[in-house]
Amino acid sequence: MVKLKSPEEIEKMRRAGRIVALTLGELAASIKPGKTTGDDLDALAEALITQAGGWPSFKGYKGYPKAICLSINDAVVHGIPGPRVLQSGDIAGIDLGVKLDGYHADAAVTVAVGHASKDAEKLLRVTQESLMCGIENAREGRRLFDIGHAIQAHAEKNRFSVVRELVGHGIGRQLHEDPQVPNYGTAGAGMPLAQGMALAIEPMINQGTQKVKSLPDRWTVVTADGKMSAHFEHTVVVGKDKAELLTVA
Ligand code: MF3
Ligand code: CO
Repeated sequence: MVKLKSPEEIEKMRRAGRIVALTLGELAASIKPGKTTGDDLDALAEALITQAGGWPSFKGYKGYPKAICLSINDAVVHGIPGPRVLQSGDIAGIDLGVKLDGYHADAAVTVAVGHASKDAEKLLRVTQESLMCGIENAREGRRLFDIGHAIQAHAEKNRFSVVRELVGHGIGRQLHEDPQVPNYGTAGAGMPLAQGMALAIEPMINQGTQKVKSLPDRWTVVTADGKMSAHFEHTVVVGKDKAELLTVA
């Protein structure tokens, strides 16, 4: 069941979203070669979130052990921070959620560590553009799968592929609510979008095959062919003429 959010609920999610955006910005600025994903970056994120009065939504979710997910190179999502040392040429997907006053917001960016290859730069750019193409459809008069259709069209036009196994989601009192928001689909299909729906839209775009697999840690999802993957996400609320981004500073 999809629950529409009241203006008061949206205001709470805006405040959670602001902490998400500020924390992502700090992490993106401090990522460089030599940093560890756990003791440096995850610890910084948890400190920033808790100092702002929030709670890291992912920590303890289905037993997830850390505050954020850090997914490097062929990792698509759900990489667990640890002793890994970042190197120049890596790409790092940073995904985090904040719970504040009973409401969640969730966002992700993927950034280059040190010097990125032209191919990696293009993957990052096109994935972020695909997210924005999806968000443009999060408004009244559109249907749910218009979002995924727009994401898929932009990614495939650039000869990248769209991960199917993982999808975006409704968000609010729970980190994951209905509906599921696929990053692919048929234009004009799916439920009509209505003002007050809060959605986490999160394309995962691969350089090579769309196929993915899970690592033995049972969290990290990687590409089946070992090529790079990028992930961008915003929490948005469906509006009359356009979506409002909630995960912005
Ligand atoms: N942004 C991801 C999602 O919404 C992150 C969840 S990871 C978990 O599904 F650790 F919370 F499981
Ligand atoms: Co999410």
